[in-house]
This record gives sequence, structure tokens and C-alpha cells, in this order.
Amino acid sequence: MRKSKIIGAGHYLPERIMTNDDLSKMMNTNHDWIVERTGIEKRRWFVPGRDSVTSMALEASKMAIDNAGIETAEIDFIIFATITPDYFIPGNGVLLQRELGLQGVGALDIRNACSGFVYALSIADQYIKSGMYRTILVVGAEIQSSALDKSDEGRSSAVIFADGAGAVVVRANLDSDSGILSTHLHADGDFAEELYVKDPGSSREVRISQEMIDAGGFNLYMNGNAVFKHAIVRFYEVIMEALEANQMAVSQLDLLIPHQANLRISQYIQQKLGLSDHQVYNNITEYGNTTAATIPIAISEAVAGGRVKDGDIVCLAAFGSGFAWGSALIKW
Ligand code: UT7
Repeated sequence: MRKSKIIGAGHYLPERIMTNDDLSKMMNTNHDWIVERTGIEKRRWFVPGRDSVTSMALEASKMAIDNAGIETAEIDFIIFATITPDYFIPGNGVLLQRELGLQGVGALDIRNACSGFVYALSIADQYIKSGMYRTILVVGAEIQSSALDKSDEGRSSAVIFADGAGAVVVRANLDSDSGILSTHLHADGDFAEELYVKDPGSSREVRISQEMIDAGGFNLYMNGNAVFKHAIVRFYEVIMEALEANQMAVSQLDLLIPHQANLRISQYIQQKLGLSDHQVYNNITEYGNTTAATIPIAISEAVAGGRVKDGDIVCLAAFGSGFAWGSALIKW
């Protein structure tokens, strides 16, 4: 059967490194608290005037295309996951398409936050399996740092979220049984306001006002405890769902690449599944939580670092705003 295979991955991280000590100069926090509660030691913030969501995505995409060993012109569709687009309208897919010189190629935006990349990959998989497209560029890129409340009030989110981009090239594979085995998507909108950015919203009489700005509605709001409690349940469920759908046991999993939400969440899941350190990929210590970008950045690093080999069983899993969550099981 026709399968979709990730044939190349790439990533880009802005040069500006923000350590926990840097943040403690802006808000009432400290290195030990951040490391103990989140595992994060540093993160990247974009360089204003130099980095944009599009420019970061472009660098990640070029690397993915290079690593895939294909020509840019072979890409016949783009799926772009971000909740921090450069413009309110249009989405970021078309901006990346323009920079890649792929005028005419379709571009789709996905707004499923931390699960955005898994949702995007699932769509790419369906388009490829159906025969509609052969080679799809799937991107996750975010600039979160410009929407963080850097006062004491926003400290629990401000220390977690960060900026970066990752991309993969997905191509139809007719020759072997390797590729995406299945994807599993879920959401529960009852919890939409537990992790959200309220403004600007179309259903206000005035879309943007000074009042909204003063009230902080443009900043990311997160009920950290609620997110944490749901995340640990849903991550586990959706990983098990993927394994069960393919009649596989946890012991067959070579690598779990979880969305990098919080190191404590990943460690909890690791323990619950009984996985070794080698079976779980973590880079949140270095980069923080880059929302839709964490998984493609991790894939890019894991492949480059030899953590993923041909034939390996790899599970991607994500949970975040929406609440939305999902997984993908892949035979590499
Ligand atoms: O991608 C998916 C999105 N996000 C997540 O997955 C995040 C999920 N949630 C979390 O990671 C955690 O809930 C947080 C890291 C956000 C918070 O950790 P927590 O262990 O749930 O802490 P808490 O919110 O219960 O706060 C504990 C204490 C509070 O002080 P008091 O009331 O005990 O005096 C907070 O005010 O820690 C305080 N606190 C901080 N202290 C220093 C909260 N943020 C900070 C901070 N620095 N940055």
C-alpha cells in the first residue's frame, strides 16, 4: 500500500539565547524554580528585525529539502502549522510558498497549537495516501516570545514558551513498508480557554483597542495546572491508541518524540510506559516549548544525531491548547 514517508527534516533556531537568569532579571523567577518545575535551562527568542515566522520556516524548510535530496520544485503542497503567524491574514503557508518560489502550489495553515504539527502530518499522510499529492512540505514554526507577559503575573507561561521552526518533507513511498503507519487526532473544546490568546478577536465591536492591550488580552494565558493534569492523561492514551491500532507493544517502540511541553510531563509519560532514557527524545532543556515547532525540531535533531535509524518504530505525540492532542506512529 502507498505510504507516506518522512524523507528529510530540518530546523532553525534564532541566535538569541535567553537563560533562566536572563528571565529572572525581567520577572520574579529563578533558575532553580524553572529547572525543577519545567526542566528548561534556556530557550531561544527571535531577533526582531531579523527573524520572522516565515524566515525561520524558510531556513528549516531549505534544510529539510536538502536533507531529503530533492529539488524545491518537487514539492507539490505545503502545510504550515503555527499559532503565531506573521500576519493576522493571510496565513503563513502562502508566505513560505512565495519565499520558496513555489507560486501556484497549494498552501494550508493549521492552527492547532502544540498539536499543530501532528495534525498537519496527519493531513499530509491522507493527501499522499489518496494519491492527491506526492511530496508535501510540513512545517511547524512559532514566535511566542512577543506574546508573553513578561511581568510577574505572566511568569508561569513566560518561562516555558519560546521560538523556533522545524520542517519535514513527506513523500509517497511505494517501494517498502516504511512510513507513517497511522495517525490519531482528538480535541475537547470544553477547555478552549485554559490555554489561549483572547485578542484580537473578530467578534468584538472593535478588533483592537487600547483597552484590550492594557488588559493583557494579547498575551498567552495558561492555566498551567489544568494543562498539566490533562496532558499526562491524554499523552498516555494517544500513544497507547497508536500502538494498539498497529498491534504493537510498548516494548517495540524505538523512540518516542513527545511535544516538548514540560520535561516533567515527558518524564511522567516515560515512567508510565516504562521506557528508558534512550527511548524518549527530550530537548526542552535547551529550547523550551516552541509549540508547533517542537516535534519537527526534535525529528531533525534526532535524525542528524543518529537517534533514528531505518526500520525504527517512532511515535510522535502532542497535547496542547484546544485542548487538542494527537499521535503518529511511524516505521522509519
Ligand atoms: O504545550 C502545552 C502547554 N503547556 C504545558 O504543558 C504546561 C503545563 N503546566 C506546567 O508546566 C506547570 O503547571 C507550570 C510549569 C506552568 C507551573 O508549575 P506548577 O508546578 O503547576 O506550579 P503552580 O502554577 O502550581 O505554582 C506553584 C508556585 C506558585 O506560588 P505559591 O502560590 O505556591 O506561592 C506560583 O506563583 O510557583 C509560583 N510560580 C513561580 N515561581 C517562580 C509560578 N511561576 C513561577 C515562576 N517562577 N516562573
